[in-house]
Amino acid sequence: MPGLLSSPVCLTVIWFLSWSLPPSRAQIWSDEVSDVQFGRLESNVTLACGKSQISVPVVWRHNHSSVSSWHQVTFNGSLVLFLVDQSAQGNYSCYDDSGLLLHSVILRLGYPPGLLSISCRVPNHTFVRCTWKDSVKTFLPAKYNTSFRGKEEKEPTKVCIVDSTNRRCVVEDPAFWQTIHTFGVTETNALGSHTSYRRIRLNELLKPDPPRSVFIEEVEGNPSKLWVTWKNPSSWPEDRFFPLRFHIRYRPQGSMHWSEMMTEENSIEIPDATPYHSNQVQVRARDDVSPESQWSEWSAPSFRTPWRADTTTHPSDDPDDDIYLFSTPPETFTSKTHGVVQEDDGNLGLVILLVLFSIFILTTVLSLIFVIW
Ligand SMILES: *[C@@H]1O[C@H](CO)[C@@H](O)[C@H](O)[C@H]1NC(C)=O
Ligand SMILES: *[C@@H]1O[C@H](CO)[C@@H](O)[C@H](O)[C@H]1NC(C)=O
Ligand SMILES: *[C@@H]1O[C@H](CO)[C@@H](O)[C@H](O)[C@H]1NC(C)=O
Ligand SMILES: *[C@@H]1O[C@H](CO)[C@@H](O)[C@H](O)[C@H]1NC(C)=O
Ligand SMILES: *[C@@H]1O[C@H](CO)[C@@H](O)[C@H](O)[C@H]1NC(C)=O
Ligand SMILES: *[C@@H]1O[C@H](CO)[C@@H](O)[C@H](O)[C@H]1NC(C)=O
Repeated sequence: MPGLLSSPVCLTVIWFLSWSLPPSRAQIWSDEVSDVQFGRLESNVTLACGKSQISVPVVWRHNHSSVSSWHQVTFNGSLVLFLVDQSAQGNYSCYDDSGLLLHSVILRLGYPPGLLSISCRVPNHTFVRCTWKDSVKTFLPAKYNTSFRGKEEKEPTKVCIVDSTNRRCVVEDPAFWQTIHTFGVTETNALGSHTSYRRIRLNELLKPDPPRSVFIEEVEGNPSKLWVTWKNPSSWPEDRFFPLRFHIRYRPQGSMHWSEMMTEENSIEIPDATPYHSNQVQVRARDDVSPESQWSEWSAPSFRTPWRADTTTHPSDDPDDDIYLFSTPPETFTSKTHGVVQEDDGNLGLVILLVLFSIFILTTVLSLIFVIW
C-alpha cells in the first residue's frame, strides 16, 4: 500500500486534485469573520475582554505567553497597548482568575490608505491600462474601486476593470476624442479610505509597443546594402486607418554614432551599411496621425554583416559570423538549417530501419533452417 501511494500515478492524481480544488480566494477578508481587530501602528490600541462588563480581575496572554508589563489592564478588563509596533500583532486572549478562557481576538496593525501614485499606458486607440502604487505601505489588505471620466459631464463614466492583486485596471474603447480624462482610484482598508486622481490626455500617452520580428537580410552582390523588414506590434491594429511611422537607426557594431531613416512601410533598404562588418539595427514606431503621441521603445538590437564575395565559400572563417547568435536570423536561414537537419535524420532512420530489417530476415531464416534440421 505505501508503494501504491508513492507511485507516480497516485502522486499525479493527488497533485491534480490539489490543483482542481477551489482556491481559498479572499482569505484575508474572510479573516474578519473570526474575531479580528484592526489597529493603527504607533497608536494606543484598546482590546476589550468580550462584550459584557467583566468585574473580576482578568489575565491577558499574547501568542500564548504573558503580556509585557508596560501594557495596562483597565478596571473593566480591557487591555490598553501603548504606541503599538508590528510585534504587537497576534493572538490576544483573556482569562478569569480560575484560568477559564473568556475571549480571544486577533490584532492586525497597519496604516489607513494614503496617496497612490498612478501611471497609465495606452498601447493603441482602444485600450488604456492604469496601475497604481502605495506611497505609504499600509500592511493591510485593501480593496479598490475606480472611475474613468471624460471632461464632458454628459459622458457616462467608463468602468475600469480592476485587478486588485496586481493593482491595475483596464479601460476598453475610451472616448479618444475627448482630450482630457480623469482617472480616480479609491483604496479602502479596515482603517479608512482615500481617493487619488490623475488627469490624463490619451493622445499624449499613446505609445505603441515596439515593432516585432525585425529581420535583416544581405543584398546579393552588394557589400554596403542591407534589407530590413519588421512587423507592426501585435497590439496595433493591422488597418490602414491606423498608420504607423517607423524610425530606423543603424551603426557598425561598436560605433557610437547612429545613422537614421524614417518610413511608413514595413521594410527599408539601408544604402550605406558598413561593409565586411557587423551592423546593428533597431526600429521604433509611432502613431502617424497624432504628432503629440510618443515613440515606442526601440526593438531589441539585431545584427548583420552585409554580403561579401566569399560568404558562401568560407562562411565560418570570420569571427563576425558568431554575431548571428545574438540576432534573430532571417526565416530563410532557419528553415534551410532545419531542412538539412531533417534530411540527415531521415537518412539515419532509413539506415537503422534497413539494419533492423536485415537482422529480422537473418533470424527468421536461421530459425527456419534450425526447425527443418
Ligand atoms: C497613548 O497613551 C499615552 C498614555 O495615556 C498618552 O500619553 C499618549 O498621548 C497616547 N498616544 C496616542 C498616540 O494616543
Ligand atoms: C473599558 O474601559 C475603557 C477605558 O478605560 C473604555 O475605552 C472601554 O470602552 C471599556 N470597555 C468596555 C467593554 O466597556
Ligand atoms: C505574535 O504572533 C504574530 C502572528 O503570528 C506575530 O506577527 C508577532 O510578531 C508575534 N509577537 C510576539 C511578541 O510573539
Ligand atoms: C488564539 O488563542 C486562543 C487561546 O489559546 C485559542 O483558543 C484560539 O483558537 C487562538 N486563535 C487563533 C486564530 O489561533
Ligand atoms: C468608490 O466607491 C465609493 C463608495 O461607493 C465612492 O464614494 C468613491 O467615489 C468611488 N471611487 C471612485 C474613484 O469612483
Ligand atoms: C490594444 O492593446 C491591447 C493590449 O495589448 C490588446 O489586447 C488589444 O487587442 C489591442 N487592440 C487592437 C485593436 O489591436
